[in-house]
Amino acid sequence: MLGGLQTIRAHGAPLKSRRAMLDTLLKHLDMVRLSIAAMALVALVGCTGLIDGGSGQTLTPEQKIAQQKWLDKALPILKPNCGQCHAGSQPDIAFIAGATDLASRDTLLGFDPQIVNTDAPGSSRLMTKGAHAGPALLASQAADLLEWVQAEKDAVAGMGSGSSGGPVLETTSFRPQLCTCVPVNPGDCVPGMAVDCPINHVDLSPLGLTGATIDFVAMPLGSTDLYVNHLAVQASTDGAYIEHPLFVSWPSTPGALPIPDGIDRFFSVKLNLMATTQSAIGAGTAAFVGFAPNNKMTIHFKVLDKYKLDTGSGSGSGSGSGTVGGCKKLTEFKANAKSQLSAACGSCHTGTSNPNAHSAMNLDGVNAADDATLQLACNQARIQINFTDTATSGFYIAPNPAQATAHPFKFGGNQANFNAFKAAVDVWVQAEKTAP
Ligand code: HEC
Ligand code: HEC
Repeated sequence: MLGGLQTIRAHGAPLKSRRAMLDTLLKHLDMVRLSIAAMALVALVGCTGLIDGGSGQTLTPEQKIAQQKWLDKALPILKPNCGQCHAGSQPDIAFIAGATDLASRDTLLGFDPQIVNTDAPGSSRLMTKGAHAGPALLASQAADLLEWVQAEKDAVAGMGSGSSGGPVLETTSFRPQLCTCVPVNPGDCVPGMAVDCPINHVDLSPLGLTGATIDFVAMPLGSTDLYVNHLAVQASTDGAYIEHPLFVSWPSTPGALPIPDGIDRFFSVKLNLMATTQSAIGAGTAAFVGFAPNNKMTIHFKVLDKYKLDTGSGSGSGSGSGTVGGCKKLTEFKANAKSQLSAACGSCHTGTSNPNAHSAMNLDGVNAADDATLQLACNQARIQINFTDTATSGFYIAPNPAQATAHPFKFGGNQANFNAFKAAVDVWVQAEKTAP
């Protein structure tokens, strides 16, 4: 399988899409780097013998630099600020656990889900996580960590492969068709039915998954950002297995660098789909900040394969929003969000009166009086939270009168009413964000 994909990597993307950019997307530069690294290695081996990696392993010059940056720049920040929770005390988030300083680095680089992304260093979750149960990084700390991840990227690029050590998987570039439908009545703007609200289908056939597509509806958020909903994988006869999709925007300005999703939001997505099924990616919505609506885009994957019979975990599960799990702050939900969601949104998002609304965000239970039923509504609403950038959570973008989304309810155009809704709901959202 991988052999087949390697071939695609060599012949897939058209040359013009290989502009100065994420190195790992840039195959010819990779090859240049690879040959320079190989020459340097030969030269060094020739005159000084093997380069010692500390435990007898051979390192390229890039790998040596990366290790040094880890020891000098990254670890001194991570250990004191993050080690309390991430060095082993909590096994499922022990991303800097290790018996030695370098072992901690191996843990972090190999951590699953991938929180260090050498394809888009600045987007790595390690730097973009922000305040949670733990503290946010200072800008200077994030800059030092970035210096280390950049060095790791150079080390990986020297090996001529993607961040996972495997081949680079990237769709050919496409310009998304935009949904510009303006709803007048509640039933308007149904994607695919309304002429001005097309569904995009990004073909994965060139990457070896014949007939499979990534589907979404795209709407401009002003002239600088892009909102996407109905985001899903559609499998064909082979089924589909995808890990860690990364969306990248390509400004047309000559010399401009491509813009990867700034928060690498789908870092923990793993979807395993049987033949001809489909599954949402994350919550099925994403507000991509800095993706100008008319830019071309590509989608990058860590793994792309046929349906896997024997995955121990994640099989068929559509979670993948990064912060899986139920609502933790039911008290705040009841005090601040419940009545708002019930009054403004319940008419369409509960029960069977509006199937499209109900499947997009199911708020059944929001009118209940008992905690067990309310918990279900809270869990569902929580899926729509973007924990890194809460202001772009689905339930703030969709109904906001100031945002030109095709959502059929906009508080009757009354911005003050939306603001009051958001201010109330946000008390609960912020409590969820920092809940341990
Ligand atoms: C007091 C404990 C605590 C400290 C200190 C802490 N974290 Fe966390 N961290 C957590 C918990 C709990 C989770 C899992 C829940 C979540 O994702 O918020 C987590 C998850 C993460 C994740 C997982 C990826 C994601 O987006 O879900 C990243 C990355 C992360 N933390 C980064 C950091 C960094 C960087 C520091 C140091 C600046 C840090 N954390 C300090 C408790 C902590
Ligand atoms: C008049 C009915 C109606 C009301 C009221 C309504 N919605 Fe929706 N909502 C819909 C429909 C229909 C969809 C599905 C749209 C689609 O299929 O693209 C939807 C989809 C959504 C989505 C999914 C993301 C998206 O962009 O489609 C979110 C989030 C959402 N609504 C939030 C809200 C919130 C928050 C409220 C209350 C403030 C609300 N809705 C009130 C009809 C409604």
